[in-house]
Amino acid sequence: MIKFIFILLFIPSLTFATTLKEKYTFLPTPILVKEGKKLYQDNGCSVCHGDKGKGDGPLASGLKNKPRNFKDYEEMKRMPTIRMEQAIHDGLQGTAMPAFNQFSDSQVEALTEYLRSFLVDSYDDLKMCAFQTYHIDAQNLKKPFTVEVDEPQKFAVKVRGKTISFRGKNWTDLLGQKVHRTHLRVIQAGQITSLISIKVYPCKKEVNEMLKTIPLQKAGTDKLEPKVQ
Ligand code: HEC
Repeated sequence: MIKFIFILLFIPSLTFATTLKEKYTFLPTPILVKEGKKLYQDNGCSVCHGDKGKGDGPLASGLKNKPRNFKDYEEMKRMPTIRMEQAIHDGLQGTAMPAFNQFSDSQVEALTEYLRSFLVDSYDDLKMCAFQTYHIDAQNLKKPFTVEVDEPQKFAVKVRGKTISFRGKNWTDLLGQKVHRTHLRVIQAGQITSLISIKVYPCKKEVNEMLKTIPLQKAGTDKLEPKVQ
């Protein structure tokens, strides 16, 4: 009987801990290139950035600061979306990059997505807490795929059927950092087809909330996870 009451008391909190820990999302849908492509062509972006975004347009060789190669994974994975949007809207002082402040926010967004499409079919930014496991539904991928992470020593990725699961291996290591940026890429037939840029936050408040809900912790037997300051 006592055991039964114990279970009744703790089931709700266990469920709470699980919902905080397990997160679900979908692989980003393919980029719609049409509008961005038209804006890119109509506004002469390719004169500097090149038809395929490789930074090799006819004017490029004469520029002091060369446009980067939008097809380069190493360069582009660390390029924040906000920086691309600002560069388009405000230009980049001291360089040949002009300001296109006549564009609406949605036009700037369409252009930025088009620039991403030079490298990948789909792109997304994801925010997660260090203690969370993200399950990404990849049903929309028709061809076989594999998944890689930037720092396999720090992050684990597993594919089961068409679900990609991603988590920090030893998440307490990530608690000392304000935010840790990492990347997950989906590979099909030797090509990176999807890129997810992940910002991992320590979420100390949520960690402490979660630890409070773990029954063993309450009973004082769990010394594994110290209270996070
Ligand atoms: C006259 C040449 C020129 C034209 C035209 C031009 N750009 Fe640029 N753009 C540059 C150069 C040069 C840079 C790199 C500046 C740097 O960071 O050194 C740049 C940087 C950028 C960046 C920021 C990425 C980065 O490397 O930091 C974006 C995004 C961008 N351009 C988009 C566009 C779009 C979209 C258009 C058309 C609407 C366009 N550019 C037209 C020359 C040009």
